[in-house]
Amino acid sequence: MQVYFLVILTLLIGCKNRYSDDPRDLSVFERIAHERTDNEEMEDFIDNLMQRMDLTEKIGQMTQLNEAFFGVDASMVVGTGGQAPVIDSVKLAEVISAYHIGSFLTGGTRSAREWYEVGRRLQSINLASSRNEIPIIFGIDHVHGTNYLLEGTIFPHNMNLAASFNPQLAHQTGIFTAKEAAALGHHWNFAPVLDVGENKLWPRLYETFGEDPYVCSVMGSGYIRGLQETRVGPYAMAACAKHFVGYSLPSSGWDRTSMEISGQRLQETLIPPFLEAIKAGVKSVMVNSGEINGKPVHASYYYLTTLLRDQLGFEGVVITDYMDIIKLYREHKVAENEKEATFMAVMAGIDMSMTPTTIDFCNYLRELVEEDRIPEDRINLSVKRILRLKYRLGLFEHPFPSDEYFGEIGSEEAHQAAKNAAAESIVLIKNERNLLPLIRPGRLVVVGTNADSRMALCGGWTYTWQGSDETLYPESIKTVVQALEDEYENTTIVRTDLQSLRWHAGLADAIVIVTGEKPYAEGWGNIDDLSLPEDEIKLIETAVSTKKPVILILLEGRPRILGELFDECEAVIFAGLPGMFGGEAIAGILRGRINPSAKMSITYPLNSGHIISYNHKHMVFSPLNIHNEEIQRYTIGEFGTGMSYTSFSYADLVLSDTVLDESGKLLASVKVKNTGQREGREAVLWFISDEVASFTRPVRQLKFFDKQFLLPGETKDFVFEIDPGVHLAFPDEKGNPILEPGTYTLSVGTLEASFRLIELE
Ligand code: BGC
Repeated sequence: MQVYFLVILTLLIGCKNRYSDDPRDLSVFERIAHERTDNEEMEDFIDNLMQRMDLTEKIGQMTQLNEAFFGVDASMVVGTGGQAPVIDSVKLAEVISAYHIGSFLTGGTRSAREWYEVGRRLQSINLASSRNEIPIIFGIDHVHGTNYLLEGTIFPHNMNLAASFNPQLAHQTGIFTAKEAAALGHHWNFAPVLDVGENKLWPRLYETFGEDPYVCSVMGSGYIRGLQETRVGPYAMAACAKHFVGYSLPSSGWDRTSMEISGQRLQETLIPPFLEAIKAGVKSVMVNSGEINGKPVHASYYYLTTLLRDQLGFEGVVITDYMDIIKLYREHKVAENEKEATFMAVMAGIDMSMTPTTIDFCNYLRELVEEDRIPEDRINLSVKRILRLKYRLGLFEHPFPSDEYFGEIGSEEAHQAAKNAAAESIVLIKNERNLLPLIRPGRLVVVGTNADSRMALCGGWTYTWQGSDETLYPESIKTVVQALEDEYENTTIVRTDLQSLRWHAGLADAIVIVTGEKPYAEGWGNIDDLSLPEDEIKLIETAVSTKKPVILILLEGRPRILGELFDECEAVIFAGLPGMFGGEAIAGILRGRINPSAKMSITYPLNSGHIISYNHKHMVFSPLNIHNEEIQRYTIGEFGTGMSYTSFSYADLVLSDTVLDESGKLLASVKVKNTGQREGREAVLWFISDEVASFTRPVRQLKFFDKQFLLPGETKDFVFEIDPGVHLAFPDEKGNPILEPGTYTLSVGTLEASFRLIELE
């Protein structure tokens, strides 16, 4: 019988577990004492301030409203319009004097000057209308660069950044977002998404760092450090890890629908990116709008307090997602009315409600305290967290935005970072007979709806929430066709359509199809079929039927199914959503100016009937399920795969020992050689398989990666130190790490080596 032993690895779950075994035993009053920090100056300041605040003022701090309360025109409440609001001073002053609102948010696009004015006026009206002069904290979703700033730098979406396997690029995205936005009065950025992108139908897949929890952890924490540690302007910017937890696995594939997730899966797959974010010092967390196993997360003390605070050690601010308290009674139907919903959410652990279009939250919360159903200490607990956030950002000292930093916006440096990110984020999935790079073609025929679309490069959350207003995109953003024309000075580029494709194909060297999806965000991107739309399929079929080489470029937020047509195209590029410099990056890859180095951050399914991730369980391919070889083929681009114009060979995989015990470490090394003709970057991915375990294990799991640049002929050693507690242990359903003796297989490239973990003598 397999013997296993449990090791409580504080490192792995990172918890301080400072509370009693059952945190419900801890009164809110005790919790307030526990959360007091060592920063005496800050704590005294906050205590002092709170003594002067009445209940209305405290509740106001816990409330976030949107432009419905400060804009002249509230029509862009759903964020589909292009304009951010013009401030209505009277309306704003009224709501602030009556309710002392602590936070506002909005979306939509404005120039730097306009945002600065919005920030300045909001803050000055706030300070003039409130008794205690507590600064407003303003929230926005700059989720891939400064996507709501007209002159801002638009980086690739997270799914693309992850495909670079270069954490520096995520770090830089965070840095440049802060440099461009913070000084404009954007103090709080609702990014990054740390949901693990397993469900390929889910319309927010592109917002994730892909399907692997380790990649999500590394990229997400890199982004957070970049954003929070960059101080340009008067104060710092806060990140927001969202959406805690389980949001990305809706059973239906539609946004904001219910999830059934086992405790073990939650602990092993979905929590780690949040844990890393907490270790990186993330200042806030936004809650999952869905429900897990019948429990809406917004009403769950377990998720929001026991797990997030007591187990994972989070000390910052927890904000609801958009209108989600109201949804507890309107949609989840766990509360009879909004007041009960407010009771549930606050008692579960919400600090701030993004109400954001009504003021009812303030009124209900006040009634609940006055009726003694919610102790005032519970309010104090949240208010202290919110005031600490404001204090730490520096808002009490410097509440106003600054226009001294406009020079940071759209700088050469920022653009270069976004160009590098785009170039390293586009995956060459297929390149038959080395069709690419096409260095000097005489004539290229270009078809496909996305060929001259700027929005198709950037996707949702660009200039507007949906990203789908092409007129708002600056002309300086090159479409794929424009970029091809610039890249290939001596080539005839023919832009055509389905009707004329056959005609033009006659003289062409190759047909470039630029297809995929139109932008969407959240539920507006729900689909009932993952296949590429009919007319795009028709286009590919027609191109293929001309017998000319076909280069398929996929600009899309999730992998739309190509089926057998994949086999008919000579070259396939998964460009995802590469951002404002995506067109140039695609053209550069086609001509070979850029050597692709990205690897898939998600597994691209071959057909819509079998959608699985690389780290599936063994039973998926049980001999009983496989009737022929064809059925084993489930992907056209598995997680971690991607081609280059050079080649790399992996050799001499060496382990420092063949056995280790839980206190030891193993050093693995492999020699990687650039065996091709040109320089290139190779991301070396280290996987471990746990051969026999008490819980079924994934066939393999990524444990480490490292990307390096190699000249032709150059060999580099890549090393990975295996630490049993970190790389071999896995959590049970409560998060207790399990570390079991037995055989493990390490794999890198096509090489494998086994080793054994033995019990400590
Ligand atoms: C989204 C969040 C976003 C919020 C504020 C919600 O609909 O789910 O991710 O941060 O809106 O814009």
